[in-house]
Amino acid sequence: MPRLSKLLIRAALIHMGIGFFIGSLLLWNKGLPFAPAIWRLRASHIELLIFGWTIQFVMGVSFWVIPRFSTGNRYGKEVFGWISFVLLNMGVVTTAIVLWWGKAPVLAFGGRFLVFCAVLAYVRLMWSRVKPFAIG
Ligand code: HEM
Repeated sequence: MPRLSKLLIRAALIHMGIGFFIGSLLLWNKGLPFAPAIWRLRASHIELLIFGWTIQFVMGVSFWVIPRFSTGNRYGKEVFGWISFVLLNMGVVTTAIVLWWGKAPVLAFGGRFLVFCAVLAYVRLMWSRVKPFAIG
């Protein structure tokens, strides 16, 4: 497994752990209300689990398994993958914190913009690897 996949999947697992923990707090608090402020973590829960966990996990696995080039750099222009990894995690963490904090919504927009740029970098990286086996 390439190093970038390892990092993407490990980071995704961290997001999953935190996201599920928040989810269980939300669920608990819904059944037996004990701290109304916990409800403010709902948007962060969604952010961490959709982008931090699900999308990032798919990125990590697809970078590893989608057909590689037979010559040169087998995984393509990996630098785009590293850029994507950094931007995605910065974006998800920023958005999750700002949504919980409930102030400066422009920062949440900034976080989402980083996630968007991460997706563009990842598409740039993977585009030419989407091809039948044994071609190129
Ligand atoms: C891949 C995993 C998960 C994803 C993508 C996810 C995503 C979401 C989304 C999109 C919502 C908003 C739903 C709505 O507005 O109707 C939500 C709400 C919620 N999630 Fe999750 N979730 C995940 C796992 C979990 C887990 C493991 C738990 C609990 C242990 C959990 C507990 C909750 C609770 C309590 C709510 C609030 C429900 C409500 O609005 O009444 N989630 N989640």
